[in-house]
Amino acid sequence: MQDRIHTYIESLIKKREPIFAEMEQYALEHDVPIMELSGIEALLQMLRIQGPAKILEIGTAIGYSAMRMADALPNTTIVTIERDTERFNEAIHNISRSGLDRQIKVIHADALEISDKMKDYGPFDALFIDAAKGQYLKFFEMYTPYLSENGIIFTDNVLFKGLVVEEYIESKRTRNLVNKIKNYNEWLMNHNEYITSIIPVGDGLAISKKR
Ligand SMILES: C[S@@+](CC[C@H](N)C(=O)[O-])C[C@H]1O[C@@H](n2cnc3c(N)ncnc32)[C@H](O)[C@@H]1O
Repeated sequence: MQDRIHTYIESLIKKREPIFAEMEQYALEHDVPIMELSGIEALLQMLRIQGPAKILEIGTAIGYSAMRMADALPNTTIVTIERDTERFNEAIHNISRSGLDRQIKVIHADALEISDKMKDYGPFDALFIDAAKGQYLKFFEMYTPYLSENGIIFTDNVLFKGLVVEEYIESKRTRNLVNKIKNYNEWLMNHNEYITSIIPVGDGLAISKKR
C-alpha cells in the first residue's frame, strides 16, 4: 500500500527542468544517493512556507538538492558541505552551468571537522542534514548553535528504506547503521529544547524546531 501511494504521488509530480532531470539520471547511473523525489518536493514546500534567508546543508553530493532549493527560493542563499572530491567537483560543475552559483557556496570539507569555521557564514534559518547517517546526532549538535532563533532542522533518511521497523537485518553493517538512526530518532523526539515531527515522505524526513 505504502509503495503504491508513493508511486502515485511521484506520478503526479511535474517534470523537472532538463538540468535536474539530467542530474537525476546521472545520480541513478553513478549510484549517487540524492533525495527521493517526494522527499525533495515536501522539503521545498516547507521551505517555501518558511522563507529562510540562509540554509546550511550537510552533504552536497552532486549539488542536486542545493540547486533545487536555490531554484525554488530565488532570494535564499545556501551553504553546503561535501567531503568527497569527485562529488564536490561535479557539484561545482553543475552549479556553475545552472547559473545558480550566486546563491550557492559549496565547501569542500568534512563537516565533522569544520563546524567552528561555519560561524562566519551564519546564522542560518534552516539546517538540512543529509550526510553520513551514522553521524546525524553529531551534525545536529555541531551545527544547531549556528541557527537563528526560529531556525528549523530538516533531517533526511530517518526511516532508512523502512529498515527502522525491520526486526531482522542480516548485514551487521546495515544493522549498526539502522541502530544509529533509531537512536537518533529517539534522541530527537525526546529532546528538551527541540520539538520534532517525522514525516513518512521520501526516505523519511524529520522536522525539528526550538520549543
Ligand atoms: C545522501 S548524499 C547527499 C545528497 C544531496 N543532499 C541531494 O539530495 O542532492 C550524502 C553526501 O554526504 C557526503 N558526506 C558524508 N559524510 C560527510 C561529512 N562528514 N562531511 C561532508 N560530507 C559528507 C557524502 O560524500 C555524500 O555525497
